[in-house]
Amino acid sequence: MNVLILGSGGREHAFAHQIAKSNLLNKLYIAPGNAGTALCGNNINISVNDFAAVRNCVLEKKINLVIVGPEDPLVKGIVDFFKADEQLKNIPIIGPSKKGAQLEGSKDFSKQFMIRHGIPTAQYQTFERDQLQQGIAFLQTLKPPYVLKADGLAAGKGVIISNNLQDAEQQLTEMLQNLRFGNASSKVVIEEFLDGIELSAFVLTNGKDYLMLPEAKDYKRIGVGDTGLNTGGMGAVSPVPFAGKDFMKKVEEKIVIPTVKGLQKENIPYMGFLFIGLMNINGEPYVIEYNCRMGDPETEVVLPRIKTDLLEILVKAASGKLNEINLEISEQTAATVMMVSGGYPESYQSGFEISGLEQEYQSLVFHAGTKMQNNQVLTAGGRVIAVTSFANNLTDAFDKSFDTVNKINFSGKYFRNDLGKDLERYLIK
Ligand code: AMP
Ligand code: GLY
Repeated sequence: MNVLILGSGGREHAFAHQIAKSNLLNKLYIAPGNAGTALCGNNINISVNDFAAVRNCVLEKKINLVIVGPEDPLVKGIVDFFKADEQLKNIPIIGPSKKGAQLEGSKDFSKQFMIRHGIPTAQYQTFERDQLQQGIAFLQTLKPPYVLKADGLAAGKGVIISNNLQDAEQQLTEMLQNLRFGNASSKVVIEEFLDGIELSAFVLTNGKDYLMLPEAKDYKRIGVGDTGLNTGGMGAVSPVPFAGKDFMKKVEEKIVIPTVKGLQKENIPYMGFLFIGLMNINGEPYVIEYNCRMGDPETEVVLPRIKTDLLEILVKAASGKLNEINLEISEQTAATVMMVSGGYPESYQSGFEISGLEQEYQSLVFHAGTKMQNNQVLTAGGRVIAVTSFANNLTDAFDKSFDTVNKINFSGKYFRNDLGKDLERYLIK
């Protein structure tokens, strides 16, 4: 089979790495890819949002299966674009329909969906541009901290948590009235603060059957000790020590099954990955958010733990035979450490040479933001490289990754050297 992966981050390199191992694979293409994906297949320099160029590529390269990495083309309707095209409509594309992608593309849509299907989540209300005063009045009925969410996609930055009513009122005004996140904040969801410990569940569904993939926990803040600005993710670990079998069973029964059934009941086509951000509150799961794709850097720990041929899994999903898959998962812990450019998540410089990539490591080295120029691998993004290692416990897995991270260098390199420390208290001594 010929496979095309859309995207250019660490997530897509992890997909490419797994797919490249499949016996079912003939040729692998990644668009646009990065210097790492070029080691697994052929990069094609087209944008994930240029549907006409994607169409040409699929037809020219005789692609048999497409995997969509990021949310943007899904929310813009790439799956519907395929289904409406005579020549593309029978080529499986892994990702939900535009309607299904609204689970991520609109916080208000996803909250309404959860409420309709009895899925546990924080209480909320949504306010539009002409409802600022009502929004402020609602904030005054809540206790701090206050959680404000831009309805639309805001590159992971659209959630504001404020401890102070006056500040929350000001933030709401900024979002609704001054469109702080552009059109994405022309509607704002205000919700109850959930006090617990966060993790993420991952599901692959064809809208009928589903597979629970390994869960993961990511590290969002830039600074040691979970301080400073939010990032796309500074590292991740799977499995999650406080998500035991009983807890994950609750996730499946109270959240995953009602979600898949809900999609079915509402005739929302969904053949793809579903990433469920969860809060564990005293052993009970609540949904913080849905994403219509895999997470980054969560994919860099989730996929490597899957021993079953990923391409076979996707082919079965696309042909309505997902229930034939017996998923084999590594018992070991996978831990990934993200190496980022100095200054990230604010402004940073790119174009620095990366050294140490030619060595063999006991880790998987996934490129996140890199490019090849004159036979040199250069930094080309905020998040640059994700290093994943396996061990029998998370401390050793992170230590192995830190070891590799210390041997890969570029100007301004930064990473969090405390990853995993917060979870050691959950490990059985
Ligand atoms: P989201 O983009 O919805 O994942 O939100 C970003 C982050 O804000 C989440 O990963 C949580 O850490 C936090 N968050 C979102 N909603 C809530 C909530 N209702 N209670 C507590 N924390 C939240
Ligand atoms: N790591 C969070 C995300 O992919 O949205």
